[in-house]
Amino acid sequence: MSKYNLNINGKPRAVEVEPDTPLLWALRDALGLVGTKYGCGVGQCGACTVHLDGVPARSCLTPVSSVGNKKITTIEGLDPHAMHPLQQAWQELDVPQCGYCQAGQIMTASALLKQHPQPTDAQIDSAMDGNLCRCATYTRIRAGIHRAAE
Ligand code: FES
Repeated sequence: MSKYNLNINGKPRAVEVEPDTPLLWALRDALGLVGTKYGCGVGQCGACTVHLDGVPARSCLTPVSSVGNKKITTIEGLDPHAMHPLQQAWQELDVPQCGYCQAGQIMTASALLKQHPQPTDAQIDSAMDGNLCRCATYTRIRAGIHRAAE
């Protein structure tokens, strides 16, 4: 076991885990930040998406030992009151169905909106391509991103 001092949602958080522990499990099991979800564990679904220095990253493929001083943002820290425009839009439009993948969807979408505040459908489809939704809420996800961009 090794100790890592992480910067999570603007706060210092220390964890003691094996160096190759995926960030996903450090967040969920060691720190109780269970908003980040385990879907596939092999980088294919996007359910585990967090931001590292503002860039979407698959936490299931990110060993804790590789994070260093990067700022980690999880769904819990996207907006302290869960009132990020995307979260508001998600509520207004009832975007989720089962909801399991939606934290990852929102994390990817929020990075997109930083890069493209008024994204086109093509930009949304391209950015969201790696986030899978087994309920196929893709049309509402796209609508939610447009609503948040208004
Ligand atoms: Fe990480 Fe699926 S759980 S991409």
